Amino acid sequence: MTDVAEFLRVPHPSPASDRARGEVLAAPGFGRFFTDNMVSISYTDGRGWHDAVVTPYAPIELDPSAMVLHYGQAIFEGLKAYRQPDGSIGTFRIEANAERLRTSARRLAMPELPTELFVESVNQLIRADEAWVPDAGGEDALYLRPFLFATEPGLGVRPAAEYRYLLIASPAGAYFPRGVKPVSVWLSEEYVRAAPGGTGAAKFAGNYAASLLAQAQAADQGCDQVVWLDATERTYVEEMGGMNLFFVFGTGPDARLVTPSLSGSLLPGITRDSLLTLAGDAGLPVEERRISTAEWRTAAESGELSEVFACGTAAVITPVGSVKSTAGEFVIGDGEPGEVTMALRDTLTGIQRGTFADTHGWMSPL
Ligand code: PLP
Ligand code: COI
Repeated sequence: MTDVAEFLRVPHPSPASDRARGEVLAAPGFGRFFTDNMVSISYTDGRGWHDAVVTPYAPIELDPSAMVLHYGQAIFEGLKAYRQPDGSIGTFRIEANAERLRTSARRLAMPELPTELFVESVNQLIRADEAWVPDAGGEDALYLRPFLFATEPGLGVRPAAEYRYLLIASPAGAYFPRGVKPVSVWLSEEYVRAAPGGTGAAKFAGNYAASLLAQAQAADQGCDQVVWLDATERTYVEEMGGMNLFFVFGTGPDARLVTPSLSGSLLPGITRDSLLTLAGDAGLPVEERRISTAEWRTAAESGELSEVFACGTAAVITPVGSVKSTAGEFVIGDGEPGEVTMALRDTLTGIQRGTFADTHGWMSPL
């Protein structure tokens, strides 16, 4: 295995000028611009992880028969680095992302990148591209995208013997162009994202490819996002696009949170897990259980359901304002961001941005 101290650093011949970087950082959007450098680590059966390097961001060469292009062994992660009020930089729950990449790798019969190598890769890239981390005090952060794919040439259907891990970084603002304005959702009854025994709990590229048609259907229906239902009964809510869902029943001191239990076919979100902990800290009762579309509609119409929100690294916490399906449409509360949603959002982002105490030790300084 590569000793993490052995990352080779290839100097960038022409990093972005202060001016070009400043223009990007003024309005980064999501996933449109990339920093000067990237990390690459190779894997070969029998040899393990080798050739760890921080190198200028550039296109890569791939053999046309590389197995990822044919049989799709490709997994990824998403995490953010936040500028702190004192100018330093912190990452949020980086070990949880490292662990999830390993879990995804096991499901796709790929090699597991050791956690310390993952963490070191992220730290090395942030150090190289420090100037790309947006300023403190706003909503922006540096989004990090680690990914792993099969590079071995050949058409035999079996786990590849050669892989490449790459890490790229992108300054990121709001994932949804309208910021924290509530989104509208379409309940997908025709297409499913993942089935029991499938790959839904892995951050597997194919899950996202399989989601695109249903997302297009949601857009055709005038909705922002697709909500996935369970594959067997098409009755229970799983998750939304690339985000987990939370339901707030009751209001004020009677408020309680419900989120779909980890069915095996939805992604175990790190934001989801963090919010379960923060809700507990705030004395808000939480239930992880199945929730049906019928319960969603009935509780929204009776007013018992006061808020719904989606959560994930890219989208942070985004309220859901209205729901549409073949059965018709309904709204949640008054269609505006709710109190519990915004309080949890403030707490989570406060921890990430260094303005709230990090009592769970979730932040790692560089
Ligand atoms: N669900 C899916 C399908 C996702 O792609 C993501 C994003 O990573 C999430 C949920 C939320 O996960 P996390 O909070 O770890 O970003
Ligand atoms: C994330 O929140 O990190 C995601 O991966 C969601 C989406 C951009 C795929």
